[in-house]
Amino acid sequence: MAGIVTAGQHGQHGPQAGARSGRADESSFRRAMGTFGTGVAVVTTTGPGGPYATTVNSLTSVSLEPPLLLVCLKKGARTAAAVSAAGAFTVSVLSAGQAGTAARLAASGRPSGERALEGIPHRPGWHGIPVLSGSLSHFGCRVERELPGGDHTIFLGRVHELGTAPDDEPLLYYRGQFARLG
Ligand SMILES: Cc1cc2nc3c(=O)[nH]c(=O)nc-3n(C[C@H](O)[C@H](O)[C@H](O)COP(=O)(O)O)c2cc1C
Repeated sequence: MAGIVTAGQHGQHGPQAGARSGRADESSFRRAMGTFGTGVAVVTTTGPGGPYATTVNSLTSVSLEPPLLLVCLKKGARTAAAVSAAGAFTVSVLSAGQAGTAARLAASGRPSGERALEGIPHRPGWHGIPVLSGSLSHFGCRVERELPGGDHTIFLGRVHELGTAPDDEPLLYYRGQFARLG
């Protein structure tokens, strides 16, 4: 039974040593949300100036019928404006070997336009939107709705095309760092 925690075990021992609680200011909210380990994905779209690509971990499956997912993109960010203008985007779910790509596509001041994906292997997918090569899966989406979400915009996407690659390990993100399984 090692490693198995049953529901009844939670909360038996009171607050853990080192535990903190308090107001949800920006840094404590960011730190606390960092305990929610996620996968890592890249949102891509196209515009008159070329491709756009941004690293995200806000990807959530919303509905099976119809197939809907959401991503949250910071208001004013280049990719958010481009997704809104195009009305379409693709999500590539990254594999464990793609931490460098994830870091590069999250860096401020990175090249935009035709050079946005320079040196990052990719191919044109649904509606010509780039799909990152080596990703675990991808989802080509039409923007179904844009919803306000504080300093982010929630893009609800209807999945029109998808693909999955042979088994590989996922890239993970936990407490502000990239990680792998095991
Ligand atoms: C692991 C990871 C996850 C991220 N998730 C998101 C996200 O879900 N939404 C978002 O707006 N930015 C997210 N970011 C930050 C963006 O990648 C970064 O701010 C990017 O430069 C956005 O700018 P741009 O669209 O103007 O290029 C994440 C960064 C990292 C490293």
